Amino acid sequence: MYGFLPEPTKVTATVNAENKQALGGKATLKDVTIKFGPEGTPPVGVLFVYPNQRKGKVPTWVAINFCGNHTAIADPAVSLPKSWCQKNCPGVKDEHATEEGRGKQADVWNLEMIIDRGYAIAMYYYGDVDPDKHDFTDGVHPHFLKPGQKQLGKHDWGSIAAWAYGIHRVVDYVLTEDVVDSKRIACVGHSRLGKTVLLAAAMDDRIALAIPHQAGCGGTAPSRVDIDRKDVETIRRINTVFPHWFCDNFVLFNETPDKLPFDQHCLLALCAPRPVLYSNAVEDQWANPDGQFEMLKGAAPVYALLGTTGLEVKERPASRVLLDSKLGYFIRPGKHSMDREDWEIFLDYADKQLK
Ligand code: GCU
Repeated sequence: MYGFLPEPTKVTATVNAENKQALGGKATLKDVTIKFGPEGTPPVGVLFVYPNQRKGKVPTWVAINFCGNHTAIADPAVSLPKSWCQKNCPGVKDEHATEEGRGKQADVWNLEMIIDRGYAIAMYYYGDVDPDKHDFTDGVHPHFLKPGQKQLGKHDWGSIAAWAYGIHRVVDYVLTEDVVDSKRIACVGHSRLGKTVLLAAAMDDRIALAIPHQAGCGGTAPSRVDIDRKDVETIRRINTVFPHWFCDNFVLFNETPDKLPFDQHCLLALCAPRPVLYSNAVEDQWANPDGQFEMLKGAAPVYALLGTTGLEVKERPASRVLLDSKLGYFIRPGKHSMDREDWEIFLDYADKQLK
């Protein structure tokens, strides 16, 4: 479905700038460039922020963002991405980031709250690993072709697998930072980047907890739904609108998703017995929040097999009630977005499961 991820490659990190008095003196911020992969693989910018007041090592979020690290905090120490950017991101001109975007997504990332709650965070911009376009001549893909291979094969990795590989390399980097508690790495991303986070967690058990937020089809929601449904996203639709997200063979199931030999509860089950929270919004039916709860139920037997209770309830919890079991669920009023209320829930869930 996602295509095969290549073997891990060695990561080297360079610190470009450091601010020890970020967020009014509460945090240290590092702007880092990591390099990995064969010669010529594009470098990836990482923003790492950790609390100055701490007792011992800290639990750490590894996150992936849509608009660039510089949008998370208005601090001149943070580099702007040089790669392609979505035109609807703040401050983007001619598909590139500008100074204008600095701090414009502070309310998406809520760094001060994360620091106040005793966590560190490392994040990277997804376009550094692979620009989100149906084009495999840019980003990491061309650099990982086998000798003599000119283009991707039908089961080679798509963009989601590449972004997940990027998360793994950021985990490699954070594990070199002394302040990071290696046993408490939590991973979070929104929407297509939530799909990415679930895949990353399934493939790498250094990720102790995952929050694929409003991820939906191709992530947390089932693929095997009636193909004529218009209220939720189907794999036919996702493979048509976003053909680069999955491997080319996935389209073989567009008309017959019932013939898929697995569904997304299997990906979730690969995370067992680690905690995974499915968080949603009432107005985001496209992401199929009901179907997502069925996937939690479908994965629960694997948690039981491993001797732990995955899902503690049979019915989907009401709006704004956090189900904080290992297979967790949350739905709030409102739209497809990531905001302060979501982060309060993410932190409550992480406190419960990691502290
Ligand atoms: C589209 C797509 C979803 C995806 C979302 C996003 O809505 O259909 O599958 O999750 O974009 O990434 O914002």
